[in-house]
Amino acid sequence: MLKSCSCGELTKKNVGQKVTLAGWVHRRRDHGGLIFIDLRDREGLVQVVFNPDVSKQGHQLATKLRHEYVLQVVGEVAKRPPGTENPKLATGEVEVIAQQAEILNPSKTPPFYVNEDAEVDESLRLKYRYLDLRRERMKQNIILRHRVIKFMRDFLDAKGFIEIETPILIKSTPEGARDYLVPSRVHPGKFYALPQSPQQLKQLLMVAGFEKYFQIARCFRDEDLRADRQPEFTQLDLEMSFVDEEDILNLMEELFTALVEKVKPTMRVMSPFPRLSYPDALERYGTDKPDLRFGVEISDLSDIAARSEFDVFRSALKEGGRVKGICAPGCAHYSRRQLDELAELVKAQGARGLVTLPLAKGEQAKSVAARFLSADQIGEMSRRLEAREGDLLLILADKPKVVEAALSALRIEVGRRLELADPNLLAFCFIVDYPLLEWSEEGRWEPMHHPFTAPRDEDIPLLDTAPEKVHAKHYDLVCNGCELSSGSIRIHNRQLQEKVFHLLGYGKEEVRQRFGHLLEAFEYGAPPHGGIAPGIDRLVMLLAGEETIREVIPFPKNQSAQDVLFDAPADVSPEQLKELHLKLEPE
Ligand code: AMO
Repeated sequence: MLKSCSCGELTKKNVGQKVTLAGWVHRRRDHGGLIFIDLRDREGLVQVVFNPDVSKQGHQLATKLRHEYVLQVVGEVAKRPPGTENPKLATGEVEVIAQQAEILNPSKTPPFYVNEDAEVDESLRLKYRYLDLRRERMKQNIILRHRVIKFMRDFLDAKGFIEIETPILIKSTPEGARDYLVPSRVHPGKFYALPQSPQQLKQLLMVAGFEKYFQIARCFRDEDLRADRQPEFTQLDLEMSFVDEEDILNLMEELFTALVEKVKPTMRVMSPFPRLSYPDALERYGTDKPDLRFGVEISDLSDIAARSEFDVFRSALKEGGRVKGICAPGCAHYSRRQLDELAELVKAQGARGLVTLPLAKGEQAKSVAARFLSADQIGEMSRRLEAREGDLLLILADKPKVVEAALSALRIEVGRRLELADPNLLAFCFIVDYPLLEWSEEGRWEPMHHPFTAPRDEDIPLLDTAPEKVHAKHYDLVCNGCELSSGSIRIHNRQLQEKVFHLLGYGKEEVRQRFGHLLEAFEYGAPPHGGIAPGIDRLVMLLAGEETIREVIPFPKNQSAQDVLFDAPADVSPEQLKELHLKLEPE
């Protein structure tokens, strides 16, 4: 090794020792006679003092040092002179008196400060990701990611799980996104698809008798990107045989509670994890990904609204809509501009408008609704929303789905503006009682989760008569408003799986081609099984307190699915295209 210890590990205990350090020049201060360098490596910083009286060579070399130069120093650890200690630094009580130094590699001036957490344009950060990753915040995020994954591996190993890898070059597996395709050179005109998840493979591993499987699995999905979506991302994919829903939920609760305690002890977990039925989640929070760190629950006001003279309410109800609202505590004095901002937010969710009702004297002149509602009706609405003097009622009258989406967004916005969510709380919750299917805009049944999810046993006869009433053995794990995992107990019987494929509109031939292998496997003693797949990127994002998963992925794609460091996707040579039997159509 070119170093005898790490910069960040030196303390009073090391005083008097001769050490060899190697790292990067984090900061340099030239005090005339003495030059001070903060030398940084992965473990932290230590102050190195270059004194010409100790080493002329060292001091001379130190005059040439610039940010991010790679430096090796031999020196003695000394106690800092009284009054010069730095309590903010782990090594702040000591310094290293340089006796000898060597520049291992100089550095160009970096395009942004590595030693500061200043705002830097994301495209620049991604282009120079190797410099961005040197920055403290990013380094800590990547280390946290490592700890999370290590904890998961150890936890599951102790529970008897086996880690098994599955192929990346495989065939299309439906998870609701487009596939990434890889053309085959050996089989002209044929393509592999990268797995959207190892779903079918883990089910086959259950048929193979492994009983408890997990994998830190890379998944690939060509879909619209968002803050919590990347084209390739990582799941803790797991599957178990001979289990029911409770077994998986209990395992998840135990895993995440222990994980947070170990890797992020500054954060709290709400215990036990609450369970909400899917309809209940929609009713109370307008979404099946509720942020339970704060209240501001939605209430249905339709019955009160129906008795009012307010046309906005009456016409929405006549058209089959609902009138629902939330209470923004202490916001009665919101200005016109603030109210307009909230109205814009609901319009972005497809709502026609927002009804605002301030509960404060002199403020109701701002409210159109107040003119059409009786004092009794306003009182009734306030009671239902548990509102008090000084609060602001935010009410939506629209189609049920629009009301849900808009109030859900408003609720989050109110929570954000009023800082209602404790940033150190992880409010995990399970959403259960999902329907198996939903009727899509294209006019056909689609799985709420994926086509391998089992219906509840007692609902199986309804598949023929009333598919909309069939409940699924499907559960989601949500945390702080983010969908962290989905999972289900699976179908393990050929006839039932075929029936579900049929309901989803797959033809016989398509089923044979796409899923023949799985259906056949079910005929060789497939055990009952189920599983789940928490998204690791999203989990680490929440633990790190970041807003996007790009902050916890070492080399993410940008918002247009490009890797700007490698400049991918990129052109390929005509020879490569020819080998792959591909011809490009001019745009
Ligand atoms: P699902 O498709 O719900 O289920 O995915 C499970 C979890 O993976 C994460 N996730 C993503 N993270 C980042 N970028 C994306 N594009 C992305 N898409 C999904 C989320 C999500 O909750 N095979 C099933 C699981 C199972 O049934 O066991 C599956 O993949 O955190």
